[in-house]
Amino acid sequence: MIDEVKRVACVGSGLVGQGWAALFALNGYEVVMQDLTDEKLSEAYSRVLSHISTLVDNGLGKDKEAAAGRLSTTTSLETALKGVDFVVESVFESLDVKRPLYAEMDRLAPRKVVFASSTSGLMMTAIARDMKQHPERAIVAHPWNPVHLVPLVELSPGEKTSKETTELTYRVMEDIGRVPVVLKKEVPGFIANRISVALWREALDLVDQGVASVEDVDKAIRAGPGIRWAIMGPYLVYHLGGGKGGIEYLMRHIGTSKSEWLKNMAKWTETPDSVVQKAIDGVNEMVGDKSLEELEAWRDKYLLALNKLLWSGESGVY
Ligand SMILES: NC(=O)c1ccc[n+]([C@@H]2O[C@H](COP(=O)([O-])OP(=O)(O)OC[C@H]3O[C@@H](n4cnc5c(N)ncnc54)[C@H](O)[C@@H]3O)[C@@H](O)[C@H]2O)c1
Repeated sequence: MIDEVKRVACVGSGLVGQGWAALFALNGYEVVMQDLTDEKLSEAYSRVLSHISTLVDNGLGKDKEAAAGRLSTTTSLETALKGVDFVVESVFESLDVKRPLYAEMDRLAPRKVVFASSTSGLMMTAIARDMKQHPERAIVAHPWNPVHLVPLVELSPGEKTSKETTELTYRVMEDIGRVPVVLKKEVPGFIANRISVALWREALDLVDQGVASVEDVDKAIRAGPGIRWAIMGPYLVYHLGGGKGGIEYLMRHIGTSKSEWLKNMAKWTETPDSVVQKAIDGVNEMVGDKSLEELEAWRDKYLLALNKLLWSGESGVY
């Protein structure tokens, strides 16, 4: 735990808010989950307990009962913000919902309270537009789904976000075992979604152009670059790809041949109609009669193992 933060409000307790709540409670924080109805909160509460169990049963946390004892729920924003030090907001992805919420939180919460938004693609400058008092305390903290099993959190400060807000959020994220990165300027999609979308366009296009099946595109990524990317990012991969000359040799010599591939690759910015049905048919064929629940369970089993293998030791605070 860090000195300045003891109590956290998870405003919005859907899929993402539930992941946050589990991580904060397991790491010793008092957590108040807030949402619009008691029904949503009761469903959220049991899902958070299930995430806590999963993490503890797999050696990624301790003491389920103590963590569960730190959780509470409320439908009142005012109650949720009472006595908190840090807010993680995970409400619907809409400026029409987030903007008035941030204005209201700005009125209700004492000045020192930081607001971190889970938004997948909105920029903090836009979200914080109507914060009249302390817009410097709001920042994007974009997690990846499933939030309790994927360590990355992208911090994207808005035009008015203070250095202190960024630094505190960074420390809080590290303290709950996340791996934060900080953007130097605001861009839609942050870092990792932009890279994912560039890859996704090419994956869709390869199928659309009849180059490979959906199954083989997925297999090529999983068995090739994917297994390496779990360990190193593209820069380090190519540093090693340059042999003895490292990145410099790769950039000045080998890398130049890639411009021929780039000329031949997809450049569209609106998904062509021809792509859509092929993607749907290809995935349905690949998945067969496996349910979404079965696929999620399979994914989570290996995400848990990878978390332990790659991210729990020195950086892990589970
Ligand atoms: N789903 C993902 O894969 C993913 C990943 C990273 C980030 N995000 C971002 O996280 C945020 C939440 O996404 P989600 O997938 O959890 O959505 P969700 O629909 O599962 O949950 C949103 C919750 O917010 C509640 N809510 C809506 N307005 C509210 C308000 N004014 N006050 C309190 N609660 C309110 C809803 O009742 C709902 O329970 C979005 O900004 C989304 O872009 C989603």
